[in-house]
Amino acid sequence: MTAVWRAPGRINLVGEHTDYNDGFVLPFALEVGCTATVTAGASGDDGWRVRSAQEAQPVTVPRTGLGDAPEVPDWSRYVLGALWLLTDRGVDVPPLAIEVDSDVPTGAGLSSSAALVCSVARAVDDQLGLGLDDDALFALTRDVENDAVGAPTGGMDQLVSLRGQEGHALFCDMRSHDTRPVPLDLAGQGLAVLVADTRAPHRHSDGEYGARRRGCEEAARRLGVPALRDVAVGDLDDALARLDDAELRRYVRHVVTEDDRVLSVVRLLDDDRLADIGPLLTASHASMRDDFQITVPEVDTAVDALLDAGALGARMTGGGFGGCVIGLVPEPDVERAGDAVRAAFADAAFTEPALFTARPARGAHRLPGGVRGGALGS
Ligand code: GLA
Repeated sequence: MTAVWRAPGRINLVGEHTDYNDGFVLPFALEVGCTATVTAGASGDDGWRVRSAQEAQPVTVPRTGLGDAPEVPDWSRYVLGALWLLTDRGVDVPPLAIEVDSDVPTGAGLSSSAALVCSVARAVDDQLGLGLDDDALFALTRDVENDAVGAPTGGMDQLVSLRGQEGHALFCDMRSHDTRPVPLDLAGQGLAVLVADTRAPHRHSDGEYGARRRGCEEAARRLGVPALRDVAVGDLDDALARLDDAELRRYVRHVVTEDDRVLSVVRLLDDDRLADIGPLLTASHASMRDDFQITVPEVDTAVDALLDAGALGARMTGGGFGGCVIGLVPEPDVERAGDAVRAAFADAAFTEPALFTARPARGAHRLPGGVRGGALGS
């Protein structure tokens, strides 16, 4: 018995560091992704065997919960995490062989980890016939990253990897986890999302991400609200006046205005005004650079070069401190805009960036070849 599922990486159009503040995000799923093949009873012994096409050594572990989990290479925690957590939740997970194969570049901020976690979770759910619903699958995949891997991320990446739809961005309310596909007809409007992977090393990204999250939670506590989502944009000045810490004020201003930008972008897309979202994307970048302070010189240089070359809007996407920049660019200008980024990087003696266009693809889906019982038997 085998189940094969593919789950994508993602780009976030707008809504950065709002997810763990119970706010709004608007990502879309990419065509690159991870394929997970899960076979019951094929590990050759009583344990779980994990093999990645991108890693030299397979990993085999005894079947346990998270508390008794052995030391394993980092990449395999994203795979085994689902099995450990399901075991903790009372599921008797049988011996399994899991193979994963990903074409999401790692370290680029395109959520190769969500693609890995989500493809495995969906294939395991399918193979074991668990029947997890949308909410349970999301909770499991987010918990793998938070609890089994130990990254304090906010869930956006897993939500869009599970639920993204072709031709659409996914408007997500990160408090209720309600999602709604919003049409993103780039080609129909003669536009492209040009992605510049800056290849900037992720300097201190782990520690800084956690520090931003703790700062936001502390600000919410001082303001007496459950999360920064609960500060309305009309009450922002009032909230800022009540905080005596300059750093926390900056964080609050970013999160509250960023939530508002997501809602504005969604309204424009609903009104079929894609070309008008550009200034909101650029404002989002300024907010990340000046208020949340999560950009780096490579990222700012790429944004400036894209805007100078005629992009309607440009911003860093993802957690920050490196990674990718996106530009909303008229199709005829894509090549020129890419050349402008390359030239600006050469001038600054930065590592050469990688450039590609992205379009919204579908979220996690089953691939043919997965057989439960049936023709291949069990
Ligand atoms: C990373 C995290 C997400 C989100 C973004 C920033 O991608 O995994 O949960 O917080 O950063 O928006």
